[in-house]
Amino acid sequence: MEHSKPVAFVVLLLLACLHYAQANPSRRPLIQSIFSFGNSYADTGNFVRLAAPLLPVIPFNNLPYGETFFGHPTGRASNGRIIMDFIAEKFQVPFVPPSLGQGEDFTHGANFAVVGASALDLAFFLHNNITSVPPFNTSLSVQLEWFHKLKPTLCSTAQECRDYFRRSLFFMGEFGGNDYVFLQAAGKTVEQLVPYVPKVVGAISAGIEAVIKEGAVQVVVPGQLPNGCVPIILTLYASKSRGDYDARGCLKKQNALARYHNSALFEEVSRLRHRYPWVKIVYADYYKPVIEFIKKPSRFGFSASSRLRACCGGGGGGPYNYNATAACGFPGASACPDPAASISWDGNHLTEAAYARIAAGWLRGPYAHPPILAAVRQ
Ligand SMILES: *[C@@H]1O[C@H](CO)[C@@H](O)[C@H](O)[C@H]1NC(C)=O
Ligand SMILES: *[C@@H]1O[C@H](CO)[C@@H](O)[C@H](O)[C@H]1NC(C)=O
Ligand SMILES: *[C@@H]1O[C@H](CO)[C@@H](O)[C@H](O)[C@H]1NC(C)=O
Repeated sequence: MEHSKPVAFVVLLLLACLHYAQANPSRRPLIQSIFSFGNSYADTGNFVRLAAPLLPVIPFNNLPYGETFFGHPTGRASNGRIIMDFIAEKFQVPFVPPSLGQGEDFTHGANFAVVGASALDLAFFLHNNITSVPPFNTSLSVQLEWFHKLKPTLCSTAQECRDYFRRSLFFMGEFGGNDYVFLQAAGKTVEQLVPYVPKVVGAISAGIEAVIKEGAVQVVVPGQLPNGCVPIILTLYASKSRGDYDARGCLKKQNALARYHNSALFEEVSRLRHRYPWVKIVYADYYKPVIEFIKKPSRFGFSASSRLRACCGGGGGGPYNYNATAACGFPGASACPDPAASISWDGNHLTEAAYARIAAGWLRGPYAHPPILAAVRQ
């Protein structure tokens, strides 16, 4: 008789499942796959494969990257999961595999995002004498080419592909952050970047239209972070003039550029919604959540002292704990004891804890317009 309890339990569970199935006869997951284009905020392992033959050390391939969730580095630029991982978990889709990975199963989607990827083509930078761009040819249009190459392995007839992509969630970005970084590294001032914003937004818009043409009906478009609050930017562009900083200690002009990009992108998203009324286009906000974390860290579980500091780095006594010669993943750098209490992981990318909170705000609001769960249910 000692087995009777577990047996009864299993029977009850089965009955509950049957009841649930009958009550939801046509229920099947809304999102069955995820396709992603972007840079280091979305890369799940492409860059480490692409760069392995070319670079002696790839920081993202070393601990403490990955230490918190995976226990080993995966190529993600964080201590654990990134935003897309949390969204995949919500839809019960596997973590989106890197498209350059060997032997990966792409039936539930593919991730084309690469660390360092730009919205504008490599050729654009080279023609304009911007040689501060890394030699990797991974821009948005190149990632779209990878998608077109993979497509015949995913679906064959036009109808089959349309049905498949109708049940897919597409991420287009974040893009643009690297474009602005490369232009600034070439000596341009923040003011001189303003004319590039419409070009960058135009490239993102072209990317959105390209996936819509393939049958995408749910597209998430992330904007820029408040780059003026990012430890690496605060270190590289430190100013002696207090007037260059806002009350929170962020660089005003860098944040103004990010806001200008975001408003131009938001307008472009509105224009595309009118043009493709059957497509749900979600504007996903990185700016507001990060500003809120910095303004009221304790409300979100972050420590006040970590507001503008990298958790992982070898910055010694510096205010931002960022040191380019001892960056996270290199010798001389180490992680802070409690990454979950930090916003910034490596001075550039966020911690898993910060990504988890942003993902929740993209799924249910208030950090996405409309929230992803509202977009896919209609
Ligand atoms: C980048 O790759 C694409 C093909 O994927 C090619 O058309 C383009 O010329 C390349 N750009 C550079 C600057 O090598
Ligand atoms: C790029 O630099 C070369 C050599 O300094 C110069 O001849 C050329 O005009 C420059 N092109 C642009 C677009 O600035
Ligand atoms: C930056 O890292 C280098 C190499 O580990 C080290 O020599 C230097 O002291 C560090 N700088 C600061 C400010 O900690």
